[in-house]
Amino acid sequence: MPSVLITGGAGFIGQNLVHAWRAARPEDRVVVVDAMTYAANIRSLEPLINDGSIQFVNGDIGDPALIQRLFEEHAFTRVAHLAAESHVDRSISDPEAFLQTNVLGTFALLNAALAAWRTSGLLDSARFLHVSTDEVYGSLGPADPAFTESSPYRPTSPYAASKAASDHLVRAFIVTYGMPALITNCSNNYGAYQHPEKLIPLMIIHALEGKRLPIYGDGSNVRDWLHVSDHCAALIDVIERGRTGETYNIGGGNERNNRDVVGLICDTIDACFVASPALGQRFPSCPAASGASCRTLIGYVTDRPGHDHRYAIDASKLATDLGSRCSVGFEHGLAQTVHWYLDHETWWRDITSGEYKAWIEKNYGFRAAVY
Ligand code: NAD
Ligand code: DAU
Repeated sequence: MPSVLITGGAGFIGQNLVHAWRAARPEDRVVVVDAMTYAANIRSLEPLINDGSIQFVNGDIGDPALIQRLFEEHAFTRVAHLAAESHVDRSISDPEAFLQTNVLGTFALLNAALAAWRTSGLLDSARFLHVSTDEVYGSLGPADPAFTESSPYRPTSPYAASKAASDHLVRAFIVTYGMPALITNCSNNYGAYQHPEKLIPLMIIHALEGKRLPIYGDGSNVRDWLHVSDHCAALIDVIERGRTGETYNIGGGNERNNRDVVGLICDTIDACFVASPALGQRFPSCPAASGASCRTLIGYVTDRPGHDHRYAIDASKLATDLGSRCSVGFEHGLAQTVHWYLDHETWWRDITSGEYKAWIEKNYGFRAAVY
């Protein structure tokens, strides 16, 4: 039976990938390993764990004995490696964990997979998918062409540098040891289950709670927004049909600056309150509850140090080689995402208590309002 190990499967993209994998390849055995950091949440996986359709292991990818044991028990034919420290702002205030997990953890996982596949004779048929980011390519100017798979590596944040190092390690294992690996570099994901430290869920939740919407700098920074369902479909295409040794860029084709993204979130929430006046009782502090616009909450604050100006992805290789294309338009995907957060209040309320409050104070407390 084909058997896949999904690392970081309790994170945002990981949870979505577990569900997408079950739907696309129901015969496969799925094992999730996740160290259950602050970013993890297994609530959406609980039904699958309870009915035995996936196995969940609370553990660290940097623990070679654990990973070796999992390979012995499950004879994985696929590894989808998503476990990482993923938030740029946290990498600026506390970079060490990023080197530990993203670099050393990836190295330990590669070593364990290589040893297991050599022993089992699966090196020719197995596949290791390393999920990376467009941030390894650095920042684009407004008129620069989008990143291709051959764009030079120019990471600027500790997060991006750690992901770049992990990509280099994967390539070194491919060339030196014949590791059957593939790399994907994707743009900003959004959708269900995203931790509210990231731009889109943070702005949705702050708006609902009537808190300031803190846009860094002048809000002209541009990201290419990729719906997580499109990303997961592309990951499955790449691991199953991509050529080992290759890199594939994945992008949403939805470039937007942060001002426009936050404005659209506000307009979407305003429209939800008009359509469902009962939301006013659930979220009385939201300006939309009294007929005002959430845009009144927008504030510009001290910029992120080294803030990359623009990311854009040329995903033509993915489309040409694998026929894989993203289909979710940004306005539609964003409206879906706003509705998801409205419908999953308990999920985000659990996360936004405790450690999250300390993070908000640490990351936003020092930021002066610019205007
Ligand atoms: P996330 O922070 O939501 O989830 C990461 C998961 O990894 C968490 O569940 C965490 O507990 C787990 N983890 C952390 N350290 C671990 C360790 N040592 N051992 C085992 N598990 C560990 O991140 P995400 O947004 O889901 O991103 C997943 C992957 O995709 C990451 O590799 C990230 O770099 C990459 N990526 C994300 C985006 C994005 O927009 N979210 C874009 C490009 C690339
Ligand atoms: O490009 C892919 C990357 O996208 C992934 O590799 C990272 O794991 C993921 O976190 C994301 O990184 P960003 O730094 O682009 O995402 P973030 O949501 O933190 O910020 C998006 C943009 O919004 C960025 O320009 C910074 C800005 N921002 C962010 C926050 C949290 C704000 O203006 N205010 C905020 O409060």
